[in-house]
Amino acid sequence: MAISTTISDSSEHLHSTFASRYVRDPLPKFKMPERSIPKEAAFQIISDELMLDGNPRLNLASFVTTWMEEECDKLIMASVNKNYVDMDEYPVTTELQNRCVNMIAHLFNAPVGENETAIGVGTVGSSEAIMLAGLAFKRKWQQKRKSEGKPYDKPNIVTGANVQVCWEKFARYFEVELKEVKLREGYYVMDPVKAVEMVDENTICVAAILGSTLTGEFEDVKLLNELLTEKNKETGWGTPIHVDAASGGFIAPFLYPDLKWDFRLPLVKSINVSGHKYGLVYAGVGWVVWRTKDDLPEELIFHINYLGSDQPTFTLNFSKGSSQIIAQYYQFIRLGFEVIFITIIIPCKFWVCLQSCMIEFWLCRVTRTS
Ligand SMILES: Cc1ncc(COP(=O)(O)O)c(C=O)c1O
Repeated sequence: MAISTTISDSSEHLHSTFASRYVRDPLPKFKMPERSIPKEAAFQIISDELMLDGNPRLNLASFVTTWMEEECDKLIMASVNKNYVDMDEYPVTTELQNRCVNMIAHLFNAPVGENETAIGVGTVGSSEAIMLAGLAFKRKWQQKRKSEGKPYDKPNIVTGANVQVCWEKFARYFEVELKEVKLREGYYVMDPVKAVEMVDENTICVAAILGSTLTGEFEDVKLLNELLTEKNKETGWGTPIHVDAASGGFIAPFLYPDLKWDFRLPLVKSINVSGHKYGLVYAGVGWVVWRTKDDLPEELIFHINYLGSDQPTFTLNFSKGSSQIIAQYYQFIRLGFEVIFITIIIPCKFWVCLQSCMIEFWLCRVTRTS
């Protein structure tokens, strides 16, 4: 929810020129109108006002999907009234979610056996996915510290200073100290050497980014894994890695299949990815996948029996729409591995160019103002 900052001046009114004779009188802007109006008039008033929004198809300022095929739009509209959480009511939607989780886990090389199910969940975006992954790390670390009879009240997390704001949110909301590796001139991602130096016995995980928000650059997860393995051997802390692959998760497996950044690296215990970025779905879907069942503490899973049978859930919210999950499944089966590669390669190159321009612009401003 965006916090509303509009000053609610109760005397302000909305004047609608085209909404028919039923709304000849202006509508109050910040108080509910006394009387109802015809649906056509309500539609006209709102669509007229929305004309002042930008056009999503011309929005190059963010890398969230703004166009999908007509067939998928139809599926979205057909499922817009389905509540994702009513799993007994909509078991096929739940099944499609599970299929997506499994497809993503396989894409990220999770060690899932032939007859095993991958562990993961669909979220509203990478931010919710990161909150869930962070909570799992915090709980695992607390369990370990408790079993060793050690204090567990000062957890910290190590990241680069280039992390997206959702990591700062996680740290503040869930009371985990954020230890940021500073960037330096010409190096705008987390330095694995410095990150591992900052790890201590209270570190719940090191978070690496695959696709830094500002530049699109991938952090060196392989080197981080090597250095952290050595440190873990010396200290016995067993510090794990999370990969924030919000944008890179649907790029690296296609463009750089030999690059080791995912579950092929033993310390990588969870990965998040935004379905609404290079997963090619409209805003409102993300994913988090865990390496194995053991990496997600059972006590964080709620077993709801809302409409009949037991349904395990691990999300921050309860009700939400099903459309984005269905749309994600559509993209996976429609494009397949081969075509996602082609669909992604062009916008990806464009995106990297755009991000480079943005960082140059940003650096110019910093240099000019300092
Ligand atoms: C690296 C990174 N992590 C997390 C996020 C948050 O993603 P979402 O908008 O899916 O919540 C972003 C968004 O730009 C991002 O670039």
